[in-house]
Amino acid sequence: MAEAKAPHRRGGFTADGSAGTSAETGLRYEVDGEIATITLDRPDKRNAQTFATWSELARIGDSLPEQVRVVVVRGEGPSFSAGIDLRMFTPEGVPGQGSFGSAARLGAASFEQTVRQAQQGFLWLRRPEIVSIAAVHGHAIGAGFQLALACDLRIVADDVKFCMKEPALGLVPDLTGTKPLVELVGLAKATDICLTARIVEADEALRIGLAERVVTRDELADAVRDKTTELLSTNRDAAAATKRLLQGAAGRTLEEQSAAERAEQAARFKALFGGAS
Ligand code: ACO
Repeated sequence: MAEAKAPHRRGGFTADGSAGTSAETGLRYEVDGEIATITLDRPDKRNAQTFATWSELARIGDSLPEQVRVVVVRGEGPSFSAGIDLRMFTPEGVPGQGSFGSAARLGAASFEQTVRQAQQGFLWLRRPEIVSIAAVHGHAIGAGFQLALACDLRIVADDVKFCMKEPALGLVPDLTGTKPLVELVGLAKATDICLTARIVEADEALRIGLAERVVTRDELADAVRDKTTELLSTNRDAAAATKRLLQGAAGRTLEEQSAAERAEQAARFKALFGGAS
C-alpha cells in the first residue's frame, strides 16, 4: 500500500498574490495503492472552494504518485460543493487570498495568469494515465459543478443538484467546465443549463449524459468502489493508450483516427510481444 499523503501545508497562490493558508484549502487527500481519493472537506461551509483549494488540487495533480490509476473526487457532508466561497464577492474577501475586487485590479496579464493557475487544479483530472470519478451528492454549484465536469466520469446520488450559477452572478464559468459540458450534453442543452442557471436533478442528469449512473446516497461509495474495481481490471498501459485515442477522436477525421489507432497498437504490440523471438 502506498504511503498516504499528509495534507498540504504550503500556502497556495492567491487572487492578489498574497499567501494562502492551509486551513483554506478545505481538502483531504489519501492514496491507497492505485487509488487516490480527494475529499472536499469543509462541510460546515458546504465545501465552498477558494483559490487555495485550486492551488492544492494542482499540487496534488503535480505530485500524484505514478502508480495511481483512479482518482476519486468526493465531498463530505450534505453537499458535494456549493461552489466558490462567497466571501470572494465581499470587499474583505477570503483572509490571505484577496477578493474578486482585488483580482479585478490586477493587470490583464496577471489576471490571465491567476485564472490559468486556478484552471490547473482542474485540467490534470483528464490525464490519460488516470481515470477520474466524481462522486457527486447534494449540491454541485458553480465551481462544484465544474469540478464534477473536470472528471472523466460522474456517479451521482439521487439527491444531486447541479447548477451552473455563474451567469446568474454576472460571471462566466471559467474553471474548465464549458467544454466538457458541451461535449456531454450538446450545445443546446448546455446553453439552456448555463444561461438559465437552473438546477439539473439526478434523473435529467442521467438522461442527458451528465451522469453515468444514479444511486441512492447510501449506495454512492459502493458504486464508486465497484466502478474503480472495474477500471483497475484492465491493462494499465492499454487503458492510457485507449484514453488518448478516445480523447483525440473528436478532433480527428476517421482517417486520422485510424492512423492514431495503428500507432498506439504498434506501441502495444512492441511492449507486449516485442521481446519474443
Ligand atoms: N461560500 C461560502 N459559504 C457558503 C457557501 C459558499 N458558496 N455556500 C454555503 N455556505 C455556508 C453558509 O453561509 C452557511 O454558513 P453558516 O452556517 O456559517 O451561516 C453554511 O455554509 C450552510 O449553508 P446553508 O445555506 O445554510 O446550507 P443549505 O444546505 O441550506 O443550502 C446551498 C446549501 C443551496 C448550497 C446554499 O448554501 C447556497 O445556495 N450556497 C451558495 C451557492 C452559490 O451561489 N455558490 C457560488 C456559485 S458561482 C461559482 O462557484 C463560481
